[in-house]
Amino acid sequence: MAEQKKVRLVIERQDGPNDKPYTQEFEVDYRPGLNIVAALMEIQKNPVTVDGKKVAPVVWECNCLEKVCGACMMVINGKARQACCSLVDNLEQPIHLAPARTFPVIRDLLIDRSVMFESLKRIHGWIEVDGTWDVKDAPIQNPHTAETAYEISHCMTCGCCLEACPNVGPQSDFIGPSPTVQAYLFNLHPLGKFDAPTRLNALMEKGGITSCGNSQNCVEACPKNIKLTTYLAQLNRDVNKQALRNIFDK
Ligand code: SF4
Ligand code: SF4
Ligand code: FES
Repeated sequence: MAEQKKVRLVIERQDGPNDKPYTQEFEVDYRPGLNIVAALMEIQKNPVTVDGKKVAPVVWECNCLEKVCGACMMVINGKARQACCSLVDNLEQPIHLAPARTFPVIRDLLIDRSVMFESLKRIHGWIEVDGTWDVKDAPIQNPHTAETAYEISHCMTCGCCLEACPNVGPQSDFIGPSPTVQAYLFNLHPLGKFDAPTRLNALMEKGGITSCGNSQNCVEACPKNIKLTTYLAQLNRDVNKQALRNIFDK
């Protein structure tokens, strides 16, 4: 009988937010189409390291399993990506898994991405509902920008772009590419545009768009292929125009 092919994973673990990281190695049976979440599920069923030591199951987060919710983001072979759609066949072995350390680590590969949601509050990342559709049809999307809005709306707040950005981290207050570009999305909306000055003024503050160093890492990291740097550049122009308006409206 042919020997069962194995997949080896080296996992950077951490027992709690303030504990020291350490690594453990595991092996799971190979099967075609195996992805990282499925491999982690195999380890969860039988958490025994390659040296035969029974350990606590590895902790990570996932939900949709189809690159929609963003929850399973981790660093796989040195690159931030979604574990649910990272196929073992496309990865060099041993496969190294680590938490995305731009975010606070809760345990093992589980991180706290709430900073991104706080940043969305900061840029007024929502549309004020004014009851328009109670009296008549809601305003339609501008057909010239609908495609752009659709593209940006695919953002799943996974955090890959923040993990890849050299300007996000303890050295800076930069809110990062994703929440910044969401301001552009809401400014495109026929109702959202009424709050565009609020969003643009928020982006003028510390940690706003001037913290972007234009290194372009984010656009390469985005699993949804959102043209982040294109919209960051456009937003930069909008912020500058708003700054002039602020002067003349005084
Ligand atoms: S372009 Fe700006 S947001 Fe994107 S990775 Fe570079 S510094 Fe970060
Ligand atoms: S912009 Fe792309 S990489 Fe950044 S959070 Fe959204 S989906 Fe993830
Ligand atoms: S589990 Fe939702 S994106 Fe991977």
